[in-house]
Amino acid sequence: MTNTYKITLLPGDGIGPEVITEAVKVLDAVAVAAKFNISYNEQHAGGAAIDAHNDPMPDSVIDACKASHAVLLGAVGGPKWDALTGAMRPESGLLKIRKELGAFANLRPVTVPNSLAENSPLRPEAVSGLDLFTVRELTGGIYFGQPVGEEGEGAEKRAWNTMIYSVGEIERVARVAFDWARKRRNKVTSVDKANVLHVSRLWRDTVKTLHENEYSDVELDHMYIDNAAMQMVINPRQFDVILTGNIFGDILSDASATLGGSLGLLPSASVGGPVGIFEPVHGSAPDIAGQDKANPLAMILSVAMMLDTLDQDIAAKAIRQGVEKVLDQGYRSGDLWREGNTLASTSELGQYVKEAALAAL
Ligand code: NAD
Ligand code: IPM
Ligand code: MN
Repeated sequence: MTNTYKITLLPGDGIGPEVITEAVKVLDAVAVAAKFNISYNEQHAGGAAIDAHNDPMPDSVIDACKASHAVLLGAVGGPKWDALTGAMRPESGLLKIRKELGAFANLRPVTVPNSLAENSPLRPEAVSGLDLFTVRELTGGIYFGQPVGEEGEGAEKRAWNTMIYSVGEIERVARVAFDWARKRRNKVTSVDKANVLHVSRLWRDTVKTLHENEYSDVELDHMYIDNAAMQMVINPRQFDVILTGNIFGDILSDASATLGGSLGLLPSASVGGPVGIFEPVHGSAPDIAGQDKANPLAMILSVAMMLDTLDQDIAAKAIRQGVEKVLDQGYRSGDLWREGNTLASTSELGQYVKEAALAAL
């Protein structure tokens, strides 16, 4: 096993650098205790890269990512860069790095420990112990389809994107979902809009055929996206693995994140290529940036997902146990705070998780 991991840090914008700082604090501590080394290479991404290099994702940054074992990304974007268009947007930089690294599968696991059930907008009994897992296609669909464009003037002005998937793109991400289901509760719900969209009919047919040919041991059902959004809030426990395309997965996973009370809890792994990107699901949260208020747990749990893929299982487990312990003790950032909890800042939460993770090792 490699003993030194090269990690590229892309803190990005807004709360990105704040949550990355806490994630690194925790990672450094578990690395020492679990006896592996990390060498960091920090690079600009998103708005920070526009300011420094006039490019939201310079090729030099992509090269640095490709030369590392994994990438930790905070968040990109914010009001300062909102007037920019097309490839100059911070968000385009994020899409570019995902595409360049071949990260076609985005894993977004939601777990709701008992201590968080009271923080959920849903009834505690609806979410306590919940464990669901979204596999979102990440490098295709309407985010990348051509043509993209606009033409005309005034009321005649039009703009368009194209939602497009090939059989190969659907199969490879569906395999990821079926393989995860086999390691979990053996059920996949494929979410689409096959009652309206041609591209979704190809999605559904392809998933069905792959299931018949290679995964008939896994339970499979299909759901339209509008119904899935409703089912997510009335009975989330019915889901094990959700398989869906890029834009539906973006929307559905934000909704799933709130089951545990906050978007600030949901980590993700963008995988499929040679180097994975580990990134919280939330954005740069401009409304709370720079105030030491952001919840760092999604970023810290993204580090645990990174350690899973680097086969550092013990360190990954210690981080998850650390997070659970801190939540059990009642510490909450403002996004989760309720009467009876103890309000904690970004840096305090990082420190507490670090101590609890070390105690678990
Ligand atoms: P957002 O996720 O940044 O924020 C939505 C709401 O959730 C805000 O009220 C914010 O304060 C809160 N929130 C998010 N993360 C939190 C955390 N860790 N702790 C506490 N509260 C948290 O989404 P938005 O406001 O729609 O977007 C803001 C910017 O972020 C935009 O430029 C958007 O494009 C970008 N964005 C980036 C990513 C990414 O880099 N992966 C993801 C989503 C949005
Ligand atoms: C996410 C974000 C990104 C996405 C944006 C910022 C490009 O919302 O990671 O969920 O839509 O994929
Ligand atoms: Mn999103």
